Amino acid sequence: MYQFKLEKQLNDFLQKEKNKRKKIGFVPTMGALHRGHISLIEKARAECDVVVCSIFVNPTQFNDPKDLEKYPRPIEQDIEMLLKADCTVLYLPDAEEIYPKGKPFLKKYDLGYYDKVLEAASRPGHFQGVANVVYRLLKKVKPEILYLGRKDFQQIQVIRKMIEIENISTQIDVCEIIREASGLAMSSRNVRLSESAWDNSALIFKTLFFLKENRNEFNSVKALRDEGIKRLGKISDSNIEYLEVCELETLQPIEIFIEKKHSIILVAIVVEGVRLIDNIILS
Ligand code: PAF
Repeated sequence: MYQFKLEKQLNDFLQKEKNKRKKIGFVPTMGALHRGHISLIEKARAECDVVVCSIFVNPTQFNDPKDLEKYPRPIEQDIEMLLKADCTVLYLPDAEEIYPKGKPFLKKYDLGYYDKVLEAASRPGHFQGVANVVYRLLKKVKPEILYLGRKDFQQIQVIRKMIEIENISTQIDVCEIIREASGLAMSSRNVRLSESAWDNSALIFKTLFFLKENRNEFNSVKALRDEGIKRLGKISDSNIEYLEVCELETLQPIEIFIEKKHSIILVAIVVEGVRLIDNIILS
């Protein structure tokens, strides 16, 4: 696996591959890789000639400096996992390379509703940071396909919007959520959970699954939400930030289920100080 810290090294390598008409797949990450990330690398491996993974803990998407500081950075372990997954290139830029002019020069994207609700409401500025960093990475890697995990569903909509605004030709491949045996969605933050919180957090997916399976039993979306909140409330030392049922594409909250319209239940909950998100699509 090639490891590049500098854009020039990355460019020189990728240009040669592009001249040979090789297809480039890209998996952007902030490191602390788990099986969810590796499933993206494997999908890219199966579909593309060259797989680029970036590891960059993007400071502009953290609105809590403590969260940024506490973000795990096990780089040696990450490299080993990428080697095993047969990743072609690891791009490891530093902040000056991504933000040469510093933070005040971030572009302000009009992300509309996506930048106001759910994650955006809890984490002001977060999606502007995501849109900026992914734009800068895409400009450097210029992949045919960008692989993203569905756990961060709102992030995918934001990146789709940014790609549309910037008129970039990269396609997004949305990949399934990879879960622990208990159902807990894999996340780099899970390592910060105690053993009991880890076990209790299995209730997040169990609740989502229950709501999906039984949605016809509820008289209203409100009744379904209330049941979900009641069930999640059983997780000790936790605080539910939101549990919303939204229209799949727009993320507008829905009041009633409309046949043939896809919707999604999205949840964010803080367990023992660790913020976890998950979602399930209702089709
Ligand atoms: O999902 C992530 O890990 C990050 O938000 C991303 C897409 C790598 C941008 O920093």
